[in-house]
Amino acid sequence: MKKLLKIVLVSSITLLFFSCYYDEFPEEVAVVIPENQVVSFADDIAPIFVTYNCTECHNATGQSPNLTASSQYTSLVPSYVIAGNSNSSDLYTMLAINDHRNVDAESLALIKKWIDDGAENN
Ligand code: HEC
Repeated sequence: MKKLLKIVLVSSITLLFFSCYYDEFPEEVAVVIPENQVVSFADDIAPIFVTYNCTECHNATGQSPNLTASSQYTSLVPSYVIAGNSNSSDLYTMLAINDHRNVDAESLALIKKWIDDGAENN
């Protein structure tokens, strides 16, 4: 009888543990940009710098890179963006890993794909 009690107790604790565990799935689902979608610097990336007011600090006289419209591409590539390698690009790591400015998941995914696809001025 003691043994049965032990089994019931252990099973209950195990059940309790797993029911809590499954409640903790992250609410935010990772954003995946379709493989065949062409990410445009002008149409997809530049607007992110506007949305997050990056030029408030990143301008001609302020913090580098200069993200104002006329300078952003040459200021980013190749100094802060290594074409084909988002994980080695300061632009991506700063925003995605260091959480600089709390940029949303879709914007981060667009930046990542744009860099990994060759960081073209498209
Ligand atoms: C409130 C001011 C401010 C805003 C707004 C801002 N930044 Fe920055 N950013 C900084 C400062 C200060 C640094 C350098 C210090 C540091 O590493 O945090 C920096 C560093 C960076 C770097 C790395 C530069 C290096 O030398 O390694 C990148 C890339 C960058 N920011 C991109 C952005 C982008 C993209 C945005 C908009 C989404 C943005 N920042 C918005 C202040 C700002």
